[in-house]
Order: sequence, then structure tokens, then C-alpha cells
Amino acid sequence: MSQNVPAPASGVAREASRRRTFAVISHPDAGKSTMTEALALHARVIGQAGAVHGKGDRRGVVSDWMAMEQERGISVTSAALQFSYQDTVINLLDTPGHADFSEDTYRVLTAVDSAVMLLDAAKGLEPQTLKLFEVCRQRGIPVITFINKWDRPGLDALALMDEIEQRIGLKPAPLTWPVGIAGHFQGVIDRRTGDFTRMQRSPGGADLAIEEEMTAAEAAERYGADWVTATEELELLEMTGADYDEKEFLAAKSTPVLFGAAVANLGVRQLLNILLELAPAPSARPTVAGSERPVDGTFSGFVFKIQANMNRTHRDQVAFVRVNSGRFERGMIVTHAGTGKPFTTKYAQQIFGQGRDTIDEAYPGDVIGLVNATSLGMGDTLYAGDAVQYPALPSFPPEHFAVVSTSDTAAFKRFRRGIEQLDGEGVVQVLRSEQRGDQSPVFAAVGPMQFEVAAHRLEAEFGVKVQLNHLPYEIAARTDAAGREILRAESNVEVMTRARDGALLALFPHKWRMRSIMSRYPELNLDA
Ligand code: G4P
Repeated sequence: MSQNVPAPASGVAREASRRRTFAVISHPDAGKSTMTEALALHARVIGQAGAVHGKGDRRGVVSDWMAMEQERGISVTSAALQFSYQDTVINLLDTPGHADFSEDTYRVLTAVDSAVMLLDAAKGLEPQTLKLFEVCRQRGIPVITFINKWDRPGLDALALMDEIEQRIGLKPAPLTWPVGIAGHFQGVIDRRTGDFTRMQRSPGGADLAIEEEMTAAEAAERYGADWVTATEELELLEMTGADYDEKEFLAAKSTPVLFGAAVANLGVRQLLNILLELAPAPSARPTVAGSERPVDGTFSGFVFKIQANMNRTHRDQVAFVRVNSGRFERGMIVTHAGTGKPFTTKYAQQIFGQGRDTIDEAYPGDVIGLVNATSLGMGDTLYAGDAVQYPALPSFPPEHFAVVSTSDTAAFKRFRRGIEQLDGEGVVQVLRSEQRGDQSPVFAAVGPMQFEVAAHRLEAEFGVKVQLNHLPYEIAARTDAAGREILRAESNVEVMTRARDGALLALFPHKWRMRSIMSRYPELNLDA
């Protein structure tokens, strides 16, 4: 097969520059699904509100492929929603919405160029937001903050700014400022122009907000005390130097802040405009070799998500690839960097929940779903033309462990196959233990929710009902064969083999136990 390498099209740099690829990070219930709908609605892609997320009685296309998501009203999978707004192509990557911390979410954040941190005005920073923000900080992802639910009683706007600065050390730079306390939202002052935009929910709420522009003088007359309060707050902000600074934002040191209410579409237009104006477009990504692949080079991308059985009518495995450089053309033959083998992309699709469209081309920042890509693994690089390899995706030490077994002996083959599949997708890590044997592999996860997802999928997709017995370990450390021998003598410690790569992991109930063992065996090789 000859390598089909289209020369970089001249328009690639331009296409890349009009892309915005981001994810919304938030705590469950802060309004992520509502905001996703509102953004898409505003951009007039999905004509009807409710078409995005399958929650409650809202029918959706995003996440209803898995019954469990509907039952629990959570989004367990991740996909990308693409829509155009003005001359920009927006790629909104869906992060799993459950309260548990999961590796899935981290991987999605490797594929974005910025994030929108959505806060509930009444709750401020919540645990899941903090964890997700920490990943953004580590990866240097610029964050735009949207204070949501300003249509109902909440915290004081200045107190929220203080919380952001004190708790996560991110300097808030409000671009808009609300007139009227939470629950009495009148509209926002644009801090850069000083003008006021009056905002009102349109009747029924399922449309764009009604907006009216006013000068400061007109607004002062109309809103009296509310206006005075807002302008006094703005003076205080000015004194603390909360002005937007592009360098600080792009360095993930400061965050532009907007106020609104997604459910009423208030502030949604402003958020879209700020994404267009300030969020970074895809840029050259670092490679393993230490160089950078320019966005207008030949095609390259990496797998940040693998999902099996998304289509109930026929089993398949989809590898989601974020395009980093070049123009992707369906049918092109690319190289799989890990094996050096050619990979054909005849079945490239754009997938959001159950909705799929065949895509013919994609540009940096876009996400493509490669169907039946069983030879692709998490983090794998694909390229055309000059060889490139992107860094492996970060992996996180598991903190939860459970023995998985089935009493249905007739289903054992399916049990094994299912477990291999889930391991390959990275839904859970699978460990084997000499003591427990092949019939009882051990699931290891960063968050316990991963167990539920795995058990559910084994039953739904492989027809195997499993039992999970949680093990009393909280910490895993890499060791070697000599370490395994030493640890055999210790109680409450087990050494297991990671199925994926054969690594030996020593499991401890807590770090004190690990430390006490380390102090007794200085020769022990442990890497936590
Ligand atoms: P999530 O994806 O982050 O978990 O949150 P989701 O959008 O499902 O929103 C959680 C709840 O918050 C929903 O109410 C939603 O309507 C509400 N909500 C979202 N944005 C706003 C807002 O700007 N203002 C107000 N007042 N509420 C908002 P629910 O009662 O759980 O569901 P529903 O019956 O309203 O759909």
C-alpha cells in the first residue's frame, strides 16, 4: 500500500486559527449540560433545547447510549460536539460529569486548548471543580470562568472573586460584572467599554436572551441602588488590579470571569464571544523528541479516548483522535507511530452520543472518531508525512481496588473477553494476583465510579453479572521481583501484576504501612 500523504493545504493554518477546542469543567449540577445546550442553541446548531443531554425527561443525543447514564443522569462517556459560530468552529469536548474523579476526564483534558470553569453562584468552588482545575493548572490550560445561576440567590460577587483567588491562586479578571445581586440579575456591565447590557429571559426560556444595550448614564438612572453597588464593586476591583491580561491568562495564572444563567441563556452570547476572542486556537504541540509539530505540517493526532460498543446495533470500537496538525482527509492512510504500520481511515466519523456523521476532513483542534480501530491504544500517535510521536497520556496511581468475579461459570469466556476490553479502553486497570488466580482478577481505579461503570458494561455488553469485593488497599507502588519476595513475608500487603504491561504493583492499606515497611527493608525497591 502506498502512503497517501497530501501536501499540507495552504488553508490549514487558517483553519486551525478559527478553531476553539475546549471542555467545561464543573461540579455535578453546576449546569454543564444546560450550558452545553445553551451554547449549541445560541450557535443555532441544535435548534431545540434539550437535544444535547439525556437528563431527566429531556431527550438527548449525547449520552443516552448507555442506559446507566440515563438512570443516573450522568454522562459517563466523552465525545465532542462541533458547531460553528460566526466564522469559528467550536469543538466542545464532553467531560464525564460524575462526582468521582476519573482517569477519563484527565484524558479529555489532554485534548483541549482551553477550559471553561463553570461555578454555581450559590456554591462557588466545589470539590470536583477543584480537582479538574488542578489538572488544568498542571497542564497549563487557560481557564475562562463562568459564574452560573446568577438568576437565583447566591454568594456575593466579590466574595466569589476572593474565593477563586484565595483557594486556587488564580487571579480573577472579570470581563463583565453583574448589576443586581444573585437572584435579582438585571444584566452586566462590560468592564472594557463601561456599557451595560440588560438581560432578560425570553418568554419560555427556550430561546436566546433578550438583550438591550444601554450607556452607563441610562443604566444608572434605571437601576439606582443596584447600579451604585455594582459600580462601587468595580472600583474595588480596579484597585486590586483585576484587569484582563492576555499573557497571564494564556499562562493559566489569571482567569477572565463572566456572569450569567445558562438556563435562561443569560450571558451565553458573551461567553461564546469571549471564547472566540480570547481562547487560544490550536498551536504546535510538543513531541517526544522535544520539538514541536507546527499546526500546518502534515497530519498528526493522538488517541485520547477509546470507547467500545457505542452503537447498540453493532459492536464496534471507536478511537477518538484529536488532530494536532495538518489536514485530515477521510480515507487517507496514516502511520501508527507505535508500530510503524499503516492505518486506513476509511471509517472516520464525528460522534456525539448516538449522533454520527461521516466526516470527510478535519483540521487541528477537531476530534475524529475512528470506527473499528482495534489496533489503536490510548495515547497512540497517528501521522502522515514526517514521523512524529506525542507523549504518552498521563496515568494516575490507582487508589481503589476490588476483586471481580462471576458465579456464572458458563460465561467465563465472555468474562475474560470483557475484562480485556475494559482494560484496553482504560475504563479500569486490571491486575492479576498469583494467590487469587485467573478467575479473580482485580480492578484498580482512580475513582470508585470506574468500578460501577465496568460492572455495568460487563453485564450490558458481555452478558456477565459480576461481583465486586473491595480490597482494603489505598496505595499502589511499583516494585520488582526481589521486592515481591521480600513482601511475601508481610501481612496486609499484596503484590500483583498489571495485565497491560506486566508491571509489578505492591498494594498497601495506607501510606504509613508502606513507610514502615520501607524503613525496615532499605533495599526494597518501591516507587509510589
Ligand atoms: P450538570 O450537567 O452540571 O450536572 O448540571 P445540569 O445542566 O443538569 O443542571 C443542574 C440543575 O441546575 C438543573 O436543574 C438545571 O436546570 C439547573 N440550572 C442550570 N443552569 C441554571 C441557571 O443558570 N439557573 C438556574 N436557576 N438553574 C440552572 P434540575 O432541577 O436538576 O433539572 P431540571 O428539571 O431543571 O432539568
